[in-house]
Amino acid sequence: MKKYSLIVLLLSIGLACCVSTGGRKMPGSGKTPSLKDVFKGDFVIGVALNRTQIEERDSAAAVFIPRQFNAFTPENGMKAALLHPQWDTYNFAEADKIIAYGRKHRMQINGHTLIWHSQLPSFVLRIKDKDSLRRFFAEHISTIASRYDGQVYSWDVVNEALNEDGTLRRSVFREKLGEDYVVEAFRLAQLAAPNTRLYYNDYNIERPWKRAGALALIKKIQAAGVRIDGVGIQGHWHINNLPLEDIEQSILEFSSLGVKVMFTELDISVLPDPAHANGADISRNLAFNAALNPYTNGLPDSLQSRLAGSYEELFRLFLKHKDKIGRITFWGVNDRYSWLNNWPVRGRTNYPMLFDRQFDPKPAFYKVIAVKAGNAVRKQ
Ligand code: G3I
Repeated sequence: MKKYSLIVLLLSIGLACCVSTGGRKMPGSGKTPSLKDVFKGDFVIGVALNRTQIEERDSAAAVFIPRQFNAFTPENGMKAALLHPQWDTYNFAEADKIIAYGRKHRMQINGHTLIWHSQLPSFVLRIKDKDSLRRFFAEHISTIASRYDGQVYSWDVVNEALNEDGTLRRSVFREKLGEDYVVEAFRLAQLAAPNTRLYYNDYNIERPWKRAGALALIKKIQAAGVRIDGVGIQGHWHINNLPLEDIEQSILEFSSLGVKVMFTELDISVLPDPAHANGADISRNLAFNAALNPYTNGLPDSLQSRLAGSYEELFRLFLKHKDKIGRITFWGVNDRYSWLNNWPVRGRTNYPMLFDRQFDPKPAFYKVIAVKAGNAVRKQ
């Protein structure tokens, strides 16, 4: 890093740290460093956005989001149930707004997702014969991937196809189309979207067994002569169980296959985890009780600093391997918008993100920024 840029970076972090302990400021104010600027040249910084945010109906978020992030993934807006509600009916209205929002703010869009066993339109679950399912599969991928080719930067072509032991999950696709359906999805996407990067996306694929399954899947796609550009490690982790060694090993093993690694849905839960529900199996839901929701009046300092330490370690690792990583996406703009307030128990108060419910940066944010400054100083 050039001396001048280093001085600017250190000054902005110094200023920001003072400001964070001082009076309140407007969300997205110029005094808070911007993640996308701090990590410029390392990887793009993404965020999951909901409909209200994409339509810019929340004025605080509307200012805040494009300041901090240069990429986004629609949290739900491009899932099959919404985009393709009936056999011959597509509803492109929301997806078109997603494209317009990305263009307006010059943010990279990750399309999420073409093929997923969950959030399917109900007509698909009623399909009985293989040929009809094959028709849905091919038409769905071709129609959507070609419409948005080159407008989205990338697609999660297939999402969450694996079981925890690395075998292929039983789903309507596997049952009716056979084990090769993942390869076929990428083949169809490649034809329909020659100008879009194509990714496989899943949770817990940093864990050894599931990772082995994902590596085998990628090799199978490549052996068939079909293009796959990247793998998305979702990154839904728990503060008591951050698998740093597995994450590093995964970055090395996935990138050794010639694909980029993305962290696509990053968050770190701090709440009691009675079912050890690491990951994102949304079919799991536990009954609410107050003991499972202990921090309704704020996160204790001790946990706040543990969370900051976890993010610090993660970003140290990300920077170490920045040549292999394309994007880090946070699954929610701030603590208020995290899905982890409702999973695996509904109605809790969780604190998994870098920004609090008022869009103010948390200690974890400043640790993440400081990792970058530390790296820059070490390189002098
Ligand atoms: O839009 C409807 C609304 O009309 C209805 O009134 C309301 C009643 O419950 O539901 C609304 O839909 C909800 C939707 O989010 C939008 O808010 C669904 O019930 C709810 O299940 C859905 O949850 C999403 C979940 O995926 C399932 O699609 C979460 O927001 C989203 O964060 C989560 O994201 C997934 C990724 O796609 C894949 N990886 C795991 C990740 C976390 O589960």
